[in-house]
Amino acid sequence: MNIALLGFGTVGSYFYRLAEGRTDLHITTVLSRRPRPELTCTVTADFDEIVRDPSIGIVVEVMGGLEPAYSYLCAAMRAGKHVVTANKQLMCAHYEDLVSLAKECGVSLRCTASAGGGIPWLTSLSRAARLDEITAVEGILNGTTNYMLSAMTENGTDYDAALREAQALGYAEADPTADVEGLDARRKLVLSANLAYGVSVQEEEIPCVGISSVTAQDIAYAGEKELTFKLIARAEQQDGKVAAFVCPTLFPASAPEAHMGGTGNIVTFCARRFGTQSFSGAGAGGYPTGSSVLSDCLDISGGCPSFYVDKFTPCKIDLSRAEACWLYRVGGEYFTRQCSAEQAFKDYKLYRKDDPHALLARLAGDAAKKLC
Ligand code: HSE
Repeated sequence: MNIALLGFGTVGSYFYRLAEGRTDLHITTVLSRRPRPELTCTVTADFDEIVRDPSIGIVVEVMGGLEPAYSYLCAAMRAGKHVVTANKQLMCAHYEDLVSLAKECGVSLRCTASAGGGIPWLTSLSRAARLDEITAVEGILNGTTNYMLSAMTENGTDYDAALREAQALGYAEADPTADVEGLDARRKLVLSANLAYGVSVQEEEIPCVGISSVTAQDIAYAGEKELTFKLIARAEQQDGKVAAFVCPTLFPASAPEAHMGGTGNIVTFCARRFGTQSFSGAGAGGYPTGSSVLSDCLDISGGCPSFYVDKFTPCKIDLSRAEACWLYRVGGEYFTRQCSAEQAFKDYKLYRKDDPHALLARLAGDAAKKLC
Protein backbone atom coordinates (compact mmCIF):
# COMPACT_ATOMS: atom_id res chain seq x y z
CA MET A 1 0.00 0.00 0.00
CA ASN A 2 1.26 3.49 -0.85
CA ILE A 3 1.70 6.08 1.86
CA ALA A 4 1.95 9.86 1.88
CA LEU A 5 3.83 11.26 4.87
CA LEU A 6 2.90 14.69 6.21
CA GLY A 7 5.74 16.02 8.36
CA PHE A 8 9.40 15.04 8.49
CA GLY A 9 10.41 15.86 12.06
CA THR A 10 11.63 13.28 14.60
CA VAL A 11 8.69 10.86 14.32
CA GLY A 12 8.34 11.35 10.54
CA SER A 13 11.99 10.75 9.76
CA TYR A 14 12.21 7.65 11.97
CA PHE A 15 8.99 6.26 10.48
CA TYR A 16 10.51 6.86 7.02
CA ARG A 17 13.64 4.92 8.02
CA LEU A 18 11.57 2.06 9.41
CA ALA A 19 9.42 1.83 6.27
CA GLU A 20 12.37 2.10 3.85
CA GLY A 21 13.13 -1.16 2.09
CA ARG A 22 9.85 -2.84 3.05
CA THR A 23 7.98 -4.52 0.25
CA ASP A 24 4.50 -4.31 1.80
CA LEU A 25 4.39 -0.54 2.37
CA HIS A 26 5.87 2.24 0.24
CA ILE A 27 6.22 5.88 1.22
CA THR A 28 5.73 7.41 -2.21
CA THR A 29 5.27 11.07 -1.22
CA VAL A 30 6.46 13.36 1.55
CA LEU A 31 4.81 16.71 2.17
CA SER A 32 7.53 19.20 3.01
CA ARG A 33 7.85 22.95 2.67
CA ARG A 34 11.55 22.67 1.94
CA PRO A 35 13.39 20.55 -0.63
CA ARG A 36 14.65 17.19 0.65
CA PRO A 37 17.22 15.98 -1.86
CA GLU A 38 18.15 13.12 0.49
CA LEU A 39 14.75 11.45 -0.16
CA THR A 40 14.18 9.18 -3.13
CA CYS A 41 10.38 9.56 -3.11
CA THR A 42 8.31 12.48 -4.42
CA VAL A 43 8.58 15.58 -2.21
CA THR A 44 5.85 18.16 -2.59
CA ALA A 45 4.70 21.29 -0.78
CA ASP A 46 1.23 20.95 -2.29
CA PHE A 47 -1.15 18.82 -0.23
CA ASP A 48 -3.74 18.75 -3.04
CA GLU A 49 -1.33 16.66 -5.08
CA ILE A 50 -1.58 13.99 -2.38
CA VAL A 51 -5.36 14.16 -2.15
CA ARG A 52 -5.70 13.83 -5.93
CA ASP A 53 -3.29 10.89 -6.20
CA PRO A 54 -5.45 7.73 -6.40
CA SER A 55 -2.44 5.48 -5.77
CA ILE A 56 -2.06 6.74 -2.17
CA GLY A 57 -3.95 4.53 0.27
CA ILE A 58 -2.78 5.90 3.65
CA VAL A 59 -1.99 9.43 4.76
CA VAL A 60 0.31 9.54 7.81
CA GLU A 61 0.21 12.83 9.73
CA VAL A 62 3.09 13.62 12.08
CA MET A 63 3.17 17.39 11.65
CA GLY A 64 1.61 18.19 15.02
CA GLY A 65 -0.64 21.13 15.91
CA LEU A 66 -4.28 21.64 15.00
CA GLU A 67 -4.07 23.35 11.61
CA PRO A 68 -3.45 22.57 8.84
CA ALA A 69 -3.31 18.98 10.19
CA TYR A 70 -7.09 18.88 10.83
CA SER A 71 -8.03 20.15 7.36
CA TYR A 72 -5.56 17.81 5.70
CA LEU A 73 -6.85 14.73 7.51
CA CYS A 74 -10.49 15.59 6.78
CA ALA A 75 -9.67 16.10 3.08
CA ALA A 76 -7.71 12.83 2.97
CA MET A 77 -10.59 10.85 4.51
CA ARG A 78 -13.12 12.48 2.16
CA ALA A 79 -10.90 11.34 -0.71
CA GLY A 80 -11.19 7.75 0.62
CA LYS A 81 -7.74 7.52 2.17
CA HIS A 82 -7.02 5.84 5.50
CA VAL A 83 -5.38 8.05 8.09
CA VAL A 84 -2.72 7.40 10.74
CA THR A 85 -1.68 10.17 13.11
CA ALA A 86 0.59 10.63 16.12
CA ASN A 87 -1.06 13.97 16.89
CA LYS A 88 -2.61 13.78 20.36
CA GLN A 89 -3.56 17.45 20.42
CA LEU A 90 -5.54 17.06 17.21
CA MET A 91 -7.13 13.74 18.20
CA CYS A 92 -8.11 15.12 21.56
CA ALA A 93 -9.61 18.38 20.23
CA HIS A 94 -11.47 16.79 17.28
CA TYR A 95 -12.13 13.24 18.47
CA GLU A 96 -15.83 13.12 17.61
CA ASP A 97 -15.50 14.88 14.23
CA LEU A 98 -12.61 12.73 13.08
CA VAL A 99 -14.04 9.41 14.25
CA SER A 100 -17.45 10.27 12.71
CA LEU A 101 -15.88 11.31 9.44
CA ALA A 102 -13.79 8.12 9.24
CA LYS A 103 -16.97 6.10 9.75
CA GLU A 104 -18.90 8.12 7.18
CA CYS A 105 -16.10 7.76 4.61
CA GLY A 106 -15.55 4.06 5.35
CA VAL A 107 -11.85 4.54 6.11
CA SER A 108 -9.63 3.69 9.07
CA LEU A 109 -8.37 6.27 11.51
CA ARG A 110 -5.64 5.25 13.90
CA CYS A 111 -3.53 7.09 16.45
CA THR A 112 -1.68 4.46 18.50
CA ALA A 113 1.45 6.64 18.60
CA SER A 114 -0.44 9.53 20.17
CA ALA A 115 -0.55 7.97 23.67
CA GLY A 116 2.29 5.91 25.09
CA GLY A 117 4.75 6.37 22.18
CA GLY A 118 5.96 2.88 21.31
CA ILE A 119 3.61 1.07 23.72
CA PRO A 120 0.56 -0.50 22.04
CA TRP A 121 -1.59 1.02 24.77
CA LEU A 122 -4.56 2.34 22.80
CA THR A 123 -4.86 -0.81 20.67
CA SER A 124 -4.74 -3.05 23.77
CA LEU A 125 -7.16 -0.84 25.66
CA SER A 126 -9.71 -0.77 22.84
CA ARG A 127 -9.56 -4.55 22.51
CA ALA A 128 -10.08 -4.91 26.26
CA ALA A 129 -12.99 -2.45 26.22
CA ARG A 130 -14.76 -4.70 23.71
CA LEU A 131 -14.42 -7.69 26.05
CA ASP A 132 -15.14 -6.29 29.47
CA GLU A 133 -16.09 -3.24 31.46
CA ILE A 134 -13.07 -1.04 32.15
CA THR A 135 -13.31 0.47 35.62
CA ALA A 136 -10.10 2.52 35.66
CA VAL A 137 -7.17 3.60 33.50
CA GLU A 138 -4.14 5.23 35.02
CA GLY A 139 -0.49 5.75 34.46
CA ILE A 140 2.62 7.71 33.73
CA LEU A 141 1.87 9.03 30.25
CA ASN A 142 4.46 11.79 29.95
CA GLY A 143 8.13 10.94 29.49
CA THR A 144 9.49 14.44 30.09
CA THR A 145 8.03 14.81 33.58
CA ASN A 146 9.00 11.26 34.46
CA TYR A 147 12.57 12.03 33.45
CA MET A 148 12.51 15.21 35.53
CA LEU A 149 11.00 13.65 38.65
CA SER A 150 13.38 10.67 38.40
CA ALA A 151 16.42 12.99 38.06
CA MET A 152 15.22 15.13 40.97
CA THR A 153 14.60 12.04 43.14
CA GLU A 154 17.62 9.94 42.23
CA ASN A 155 20.33 12.55 41.61
CA GLY A 156 19.04 15.60 43.45
CA THR A 157 18.99 17.48 40.11
CA ASP A 158 17.14 20.77 40.42
CA TYR A 159 13.92 21.38 38.51
CA ASP A 160 15.34 23.72 35.82
CA ALA A 161 18.38 21.55 35.12
CA ALA A 162 16.14 18.45 34.90
CA LEU A 163 13.91 20.23 32.36
CA ARG A 164 16.92 21.31 30.31
CA GLU A 165 18.20 17.72 30.25
CA ALA A 166 14.79 16.40 29.12
CA GLN A 167 14.65 19.03 26.38
CA ALA A 168 18.18 18.14 25.23
CA LEU A 169 17.07 14.51 24.90
CA GLY A 170 14.35 15.68 22.50
CA TYR A 171 11.40 14.38 24.51
CA ALA A 172 9.78 17.64 25.61
CA GLU A 173 7.04 19.31 23.57
CA ALA A 174 7.95 22.46 21.58
CA ASP A 175 6.48 24.40 24.50
CA PRO A 176 7.43 22.31 27.57
CA THR A 177 4.57 23.92 29.53
CA ALA A 178 2.41 21.19 27.98
CA ASP A 179 4.63 18.60 29.64
CA VAL A 180 5.31 20.15 33.05
CA GLU A 181 1.77 21.42 33.62
CA GLY A 182 0.27 18.02 32.75
CA LEU A 183 -1.52 19.09 29.53
CA ASP A 184 0.22 16.48 27.39
CA ALA A 185 -0.69 13.71 29.88
CA ARG A 186 -4.26 15.07 29.99
CA ARG A 187 -4.63 14.77 26.19
CA LYS A 188 -3.44 11.17 26.34
CA LEU A 189 -5.90 10.58 29.18
CA VAL A 190 -8.79 11.98 27.11
CA LEU A 191 -8.04 9.49 24.32
CA SER A 192 -7.69 6.65 26.83
CA ALA A 193 -10.97 7.50 28.60
CA ASN A 194 -12.82 7.89 25.31
CA LEU A 195 -11.74 4.47 24.14
CA ALA A 196 -12.16 2.77 27.51
CA TYR A 197 -15.64 4.10 28.22
CA GLY A 198 -17.09 4.85 24.76
CA VAL A 199 -17.48 8.51 25.72
CA SER A 200 -16.31 11.87 24.52
CA VAL A 201 -14.86 13.90 27.37
CA GLN A 202 -13.73 17.49 27.05
CA GLU A 203 -10.09 18.16 27.85
CA GLU A 204 -10.80 21.44 29.67
CA GLU A 205 -13.16 19.73 32.14
CA ILE A 206 -10.38 17.53 33.52
CA PRO A 207 -8.55 19.11 36.48
CA CYS A 208 -4.86 19.09 35.86
CA VAL A 209 -1.99 19.73 38.28
CA GLY A 210 1.48 19.36 36.80
CA ILE A 211 4.87 19.01 38.47
CA SER A 212 5.91 22.68 38.61
CA SER A 213 4.80 22.82 42.26
CA VAL A 214 6.89 19.79 43.32
CA THR A 215 9.98 21.03 45.13
CA ALA A 216 13.20 19.38 46.30
CA GLN A 217 11.79 19.73 49.83
CA ASP A 218 8.66 17.75 48.81
CA ILE A 219 10.83 15.03 47.28
CA ALA A 220 12.91 14.82 50.46
CA TYR A 221 9.72 14.71 52.61
CA ALA A 222 8.35 11.85 50.47
CA GLY A 223 11.75 10.08 50.47
CA GLU A 224 11.76 9.98 54.30
CA LYS A 225 8.52 7.97 54.08
CA GLU A 226 9.93 5.80 51.24
CA LEU A 227 7.44 7.32 48.79
CA THR A 228 8.13 8.44 45.21
CA PHE A 229 6.48 11.25 43.22
CA LYS A 230 5.13 10.49 39.73
CA LEU A 231 2.82 12.50 37.50
CA ILE A 232 -0.27 10.35 37.01
CA ALA A 233 -3.24 10.67 34.69
CA ARG A 234 -6.26 8.72 35.94
CA ALA A 235 -9.80 8.10 34.75
CA GLU A 236 -12.29 5.87 36.53
CA GLN A 237 -15.86 4.93 35.80
CA GLN A 238 -18.58 4.07 38.30
CA ASP A 239 -22.23 3.62 37.32
CA GLY A 240 -21.73 5.43 34.04
CA LYS A 241 -20.02 8.45 35.67
CA VAL A 242 -16.48 9.22 34.58
CA ALA A 243 -13.96 10.88 36.90
CA ALA A 244 -10.65 11.99 35.40
CA PHE A 245 -7.73 14.07 36.63
CA VAL A 246 -3.98 14.59 36.28
CA CYS A 247 -2.01 15.08 39.47
CA PRO A 248 1.34 14.35 41.15
CA THR A 249 0.93 11.04 42.95
CA LEU A 250 2.96 9.36 45.67
CA PHE A 251 3.74 5.67 45.30
CA PRO A 252 5.22 3.22 47.83
CA ALA A 253 8.32 1.24 46.79
CA SER A 254 6.11 -1.82 46.18
CA ALA A 255 4.39 -0.14 43.21
CA PRO A 256 5.90 -0.64 39.72
CA GLU A 257 5.28 3.05 38.96
CA ALA A 258 7.83 3.98 41.66
CA HIS A 259 10.54 2.21 39.64
CA MET A 260 9.74 3.59 36.20
CA GLY A 261 12.77 5.77 35.52
CA GLY A 262 13.90 8.03 32.71
CA THR A 263 11.38 8.83 30.00
CA GLY A 264 9.54 5.52 30.47
CA ASN A 265 5.76 5.28 30.57
CA ILE A 266 3.68 2.74 32.48
CA VAL A 267 -0.04 2.58 32.07
CA THR A 268 -2.65 0.23 33.47
CA PHE A 269 -6.28 -0.65 32.94
CA CYS A 270 -8.53 -2.42 35.41
CA ALA A 271 -11.25 -4.55 33.85
CA ARG A 272 -14.16 -5.82 35.95
CA ARG A 273 -13.81 -9.52 35.14
CA PHE A 274 -10.39 -10.14 33.67
CA GLY A 275 -8.52 -7.93 36.07
CA THR A 276 -5.63 -5.54 35.78
CA GLN A 277 -3.10 -5.27 32.94
CA SER A 278 -0.12 -2.92 32.82
CA PHE A 279 1.96 -1.86 29.85
CA SER A 280 5.33 -0.21 30.06
CA GLY A 281 8.07 0.94 27.72
CA ALA A 282 9.34 3.90 25.77
CA GLY A 283 6.67 6.58 25.79
CA ALA A 284 8.49 8.86 23.39
CA GLY A 285 11.38 8.95 20.93
CA GLY A 286 11.81 8.46 17.18
CA TYR A 287 12.06 4.67 16.83
CA PRO A 288 9.40 3.72 19.42
CA THR A 289 6.87 6.28 18.18
CA GLY A 290 7.73 5.65 14.52
CA SER A 291 7.18 1.92 15.17
CA SER A 292 3.67 2.57 16.47
CA VAL A 293 2.90 4.56 13.32
CA LEU A 294 4.27 1.72 11.18
CA SER A 295 2.27 -0.84 13.13
CA ASP A 296 -0.96 1.11 12.45
CA CYS A 297 -0.11 1.24 8.73
CA LEU A 298 0.56 -2.52 8.66
CA ASP A 299 -2.76 -3.23 10.39
CA ILE A 300 -4.61 -1.11 7.86
CA SER A 301 -2.84 -2.62 4.86
CA GLY A 302 -3.54 -6.06 6.35
CA GLY A 303 -7.26 -5.29 6.37
CA CYS A 304 -7.66 -4.66 10.11
CA PRO A 305 -10.00 -1.68 10.36
CA SER A 306 -9.97 1.27 12.73
CA PHE A 307 -9.78 0.16 16.34
CA TYR A 308 -12.11 2.85 17.57
CA VAL A 309 -15.36 2.22 19.29
CA ASP A 310 -18.09 3.60 17.09
CA LYS A 311 -20.03 5.24 19.89
CA PHE A 312 -19.04 8.17 22.03
CA THR A 313 -21.59 9.48 24.45
CA PRO A 314 -20.86 13.10 25.40
CA CYS A 315 -19.95 12.93 29.04
CA LYS A 316 -19.46 15.42 31.88
CA ILE A 317 -16.62 14.74 34.26
CA ASP A 318 -17.92 13.88 37.74
CA LEU A 319 -15.28 13.84 40.47
CA SER A 320 -17.66 13.46 43.40
CA ARG A 321 -17.11 9.73 43.92
CA ALA A 322 -13.39 9.45 43.16
CA GLU A 323 -12.25 9.09 46.80
CA ALA A 324 -8.59 9.12 47.80
CA CYS A 325 -6.21 10.34 50.44
CA TRP A 326 -4.54 13.62 49.39
CA LEU A 327 -1.37 15.33 50.56
CA TYR A 328 -1.31 19.13 50.66
CA ARG A 329 1.53 21.55 51.35
CA VAL A 330 0.32 25.03 52.09
CA GLY A 331 2.52 27.77 53.59
CA GLY A 332 5.27 25.17 54.13
CA GLU A 333 3.02 22.88 56.23
CA TYR A 334 2.12 19.35 55.11
CA PHE A 335 -1.24 17.78 55.92
CA THR A 336 -3.47 15.04 54.48
CA ARG A 337 -7.19 14.67 53.90
CA GLN A 338 -9.36 11.74 52.81
CA CYS A 339 -11.95 13.11 50.41
CA SER A 340 -13.30 13.06 46.86
CA ALA A 341 -11.23 14.39 43.98
CA GLU A 342 -13.89 17.07 43.62
CA GLN A 343 -13.19 18.32 47.15
CA ALA A 344 -9.41 17.97 46.78
CA PHE A 345 -9.19 20.08 43.61
CA LYS A 346 -11.61 22.64 45.08
CA ASP A 347 -9.49 22.92 48.24
CA TYR A 348 -6.32 23.21 46.16
CA LYS A 349 -7.75 26.07 44.10
CA LEU A 350 -8.54 27.96 47.30
CA TYR A 351 -5.17 27.23 48.90
CA ARG A 352 -3.36 28.47 45.78
CA LYS A 353 -4.92 31.90 46.28
CA ASP A 354 -2.92 32.27 49.50
CA ASP A 355 0.09 30.20 48.47
CA PRO A 356 0.66 30.10 44.68
CA HIS A 357 3.29 27.38 45.21
CA ALA A 358 1.03 25.06 47.24
CA LEU A 359 1.24 21.32 46.51
CA LEU A 360 -1.50 18.77 45.90
CA ALA A 361 -0.61 15.09 45.52
CA ARG A 362 -2.71 11.93 45.61
CA LEU A 363 -1.54 9.01 47.72
CA ALA A 364 -1.74 5.75 45.77
CA GLY A 365 -2.30 2.35 47.38
CA ASP A 366 -0.23 1.80 50.51
CA ALA A 367 1.18 5.33 50.37
CA ALA A 368 -2.02 6.38 52.14
CA LYS A 369 -1.16 4.07 55.09
CA LYS A 370 2.12 5.94 55.58
CA LEU A 371 0.66 9.42 55.63
CA CYS A 372 -3.13 9.47 56.12
N1 HSE B 1 6.40 15.32 25.25
C1 HSE B 1 5.90 13.98 25.23
C2 HSE B 1 6.44 13.26 26.45
C3 HSE B 1 6.33 13.30 23.96
O1 HSE B 1 7.38 13.76 27.09
O2 HSE B 1 5.91 12.21 26.80
C4 HSE B 1 5.63 11.99 23.70
O3 HSE B 1 4.24 12.14 23.57
